[in-house]
Amino acid sequence: MIRSTDIRAKFSAFWKSRGHAAVPSSSLVPSDPSVLLTTAGMQQFKPYYTGEADPVRDFGSKSAASCQKSFRTSDIDEVGDERHLTFFEMLGNFSFGGYGKREAITYAYDFITAEMGLAISYVTVFEGSASVPRDEESAGIWKELKSDIDVRYEGMEDVFWGPTGSSGPCGPTTEIYVRNGAGEDIEIWNIVFNQFLYPGSREELLAGTADKELKPLAQFGVDTGMGLERLAMVVQKTKTVFETDLFAPLIAALPAELDERTKRVIADHARGSAFLLSDGVRPSNKGAGYVLRRLMRRVFAYMHLNALSNDIFEALMKIVIAEYGPEYQGLMKERDGIIDAMWAEWEQFARTLDRGVKAIAAMPSIDSKAAFDLYQSMGMTYEIVKELGGTKARGLNREDFDREFAKHQASSRAGAEKKFGGHGLILDTGELKAGNEEELKKVTRLHTATHLLQQALKDVLGGEVAQRGSDITVERTRFDFSFPRKVLPEELKKAEDIVNAKIAEDLPMTFVELPIEEAKKTGALYYFKEKYPERVKVYYAGRSLETAYSREFCGGPHVTHTGELKKFRIMKEEATSAGIRRIRATVE
Ligand code: GLY
Repeated sequence: MIRSTDIRAKFSAFWKSRGHAAVPSSSLVPSDPSVLLTTAGMQQFKPYYTGEADPVRDFGSKSAASCQKSFRTSDIDEVGDERHLTFFEMLGNFSFGGYGKREAITYAYDFITAEMGLAISYVTVFEGSASVPRDEESAGIWKELKSDIDVRYEGMEDVFWGPTGSSGPCGPTTEIYVRNGAGEDIEIWNIVFNQFLYPGSREELLAGTADKELKPLAQFGVDTGMGLERLAMVVQKTKTVFETDLFAPLIAALPAELDERTKRVIADHARGSAFLLSDGVRPSNKGAGYVLRRLMRRVFAYMHLNALSNDIFEALMKIVIAEYGPEYQGLMKERDGIIDAMWAEWEQFARTLDRGVKAIAAMPSIDSKAAFDLYQSMGMTYEIVKELGGTKARGLNREDFDREFAKHQASSRAGAEKKFGGHGLILDTGELKAGNEEELKKVTRLHTATHLLQQALKDVLGGEVAQRGSDITVERTRFDFSFPRKVLPEELKKAEDIVNAKIAEDLPMTFVELPIEEAKKTGALYYFKEKYPERVKVYYAGRSLETAYSREFCGGPHVTHTGELKKFRIMKEEATSAGIRRIRATVE
């Protein structure tokens, strides 16, 4: 069997030997502000087609090839069938005034037949429109390569490509169809001839307004896209993408009794979430963050409905990191951040999910307005409501829901980012958040308590305790640290008692500012994930830096004396992931 790692390698070698620069995948979050997420390999190359950038200067060739991380929200409702996905890898070769149709088609033919050993079922070419002629040239080239090839002519909707949702280079395409393990002919490769620039989106192109606004490009471009998952499916002769080696380990990690569609959605969404998180996206109510939130919450909802633990979600993320990490190192680097973000989102959603499920069950019918209210009040996303609502949600459709969403966003846009508990934030260090003076006092006290807690945990549990995360709100401090097992109740009590003893001593809390190397020599604790400046503040609780009970690199703010904390209480201890414990604590 040709494994997917071999397919990537063969693809890269094939184009290298034909003078193409190997360009690494760009981020799923594009630099082009007109698009939400990277939907195709050509996206990072747009300026080379228009002549705004020079490929020879930038990567030494007029042609390039890549395996690009891509994400299409347009297919989200189809996920669960044999082959639709949100996240996918797109193999592609690109030429910017380098070669024409003959080379593009011949190369593709060679790769599919000679390198992959596949038989082509048929190809499609553009039938022509009012201003773009029928593509006889491509049809002729195909026939020269294989005289009995089945060439089918198709229209704008199928064989004229432009980037989804944004403006850019576009043109007629020729597509290759190959038979999969279920005996169906599926499209695997889309070869686009970029001859035009269109100022609007692909959706507009299809609406038929395209012809008159197409502007010819000065140079002929080639842009191709071949989904790795689909290619793996035909190469590995499976019936679905989920049986290929790209998904099999994920599906195998799910309980066998889950129904097939649920397994596929979970596998797709977990994989997509891990990749979005590795590119720095975090769940939120807008943009890419909103897409991520929907993926993650749908997985949480399935886990909840099937009485499964989110440890399985974590396990899936870890499989993605292990399987794809060698190809996409960002996954490895962001490993902890990915897992932490998953649990943080769960913590938010856990508060309302059960109520949301019950609310849906109690509603006689659910339209788009009601669905949006469910999102607003309980964070239930469109996909969950649609699914759980069943026939009651027949009247609910994505367009109306999105319209409700857009209406709401427009009315709350002003200053929305700064909102927190109904106030503008007066403090947001990332770790500490406060909306007013009163809250500021409380989070400052919790912050000092967190320093004392970390030292107390080290005293009780030993040196292997190290900070893995910290988040402080007006209600509590939440401290994550590495430790291999559950912390026993008596150990928690000991740590709590130590902190309270240090509060009773009313130690001064102050800082010194030192060059970073010197600061490290003081033995102060610091958080390995954080990037510190040249000079850092070391906050310490004690009468001198040397004799202090706690020393930590920190930007503040802190109380001036530990006595201000009054009384410290640990509320809860739990695991967030393997080897990471989480403590929630508060002060009076
Ligand atoms: N850029 C070609 C494709 O996405 O199919």
